Amino acid sequence: MNLLGLIGGTGLDQWGGLESEMGFETPYGSPSAPVAYYEIGASHLLFLARHSHNHSIPPHRVNYRANIHALHQAGVKQVLGINAVGGITERFGAGTMAVPDQLVDYTWGREQSYSDGTTFGLQHIEFAEPFAGPLRQRVLAAAADLKLNVVDGGCVAVVQGPRLETAAEICRLREDGSDMVGMTTMPEAALARELGMDYTALCVVSNKAADKAEEPITMEEIHANLAQAIGKVRAIVEYLCQHPEESAERETG
Ligand code: HPA
Repeated sequence: MNLLGLIGGTGLDQWGGLESEMGFETPYGSPSAPVAYYEIGASHLLFLARHSHNHSIPPHRVNYRANIHALHQAGVKQVLGINAVGGITERFGAGTMAVPDQLVDYTWGREQSYSDGTTFGLQHIEFAEPFAGPLRQRVLAAAADLKLNVVDGGCVAVVQGPRLETAAEICRLREDGSDMVGMTTMPEAALARELGMDYTALCVVSNKAADKAEEPITMEEIHANLAQAIGKVRAIVEYLCQHPEESAERETG
């Protein structure tokens, strides 16, 4: 059966009525939550709440290594990460959904690699195209079939958080070439690459970033915009499960 890993972020802390769940222990500690299993069409969806179900783990304290390792142990080869982001450039207004093609990592102090000089051999993964696998194209094709407007491309700046940015910081990110700003795509994407998994991000713009916001950004605004978009995210995920990649089906029988 086809397996799809889904890491839900702000606005998507649970998938739905629980079918079954499995707790994993990893050499890196415990993941944010047990992995919840759902059967959708010809697929198993394996859902992991990045910030835990009660949204208690802030972006800089998420155990990204354990989360990715747990999905890997579960047999997942393709992972979709859902990210709430602020929109920096014009095209990425509130409510926009985007599948980025680039990122700049501004995070610090996170356990960002399995290559930490202990259990895992030293690896310098190739990362020029951080979202290069077939899942990225499948997400875009799903959105097109569902007639949902999803931007193909864009650069996401990944910042440390949990605070939002100053206006000057956003100016700098804009000058650096970023279209969106979020807090969780890294090190998630790189860790998945280290374990040979195909990772792609689906970003939902929840607010204008700090230098263009007419009013101070509030959590209410962020949650309201995410709530509006999350139905579309779910539709894309369900479509992916109902239309599994042929090669993935063949691989897993
Ligand atoms: N900045 C950083 N992360 C975010 C934002 C933002 O404006 N909105 C949602 N996640």
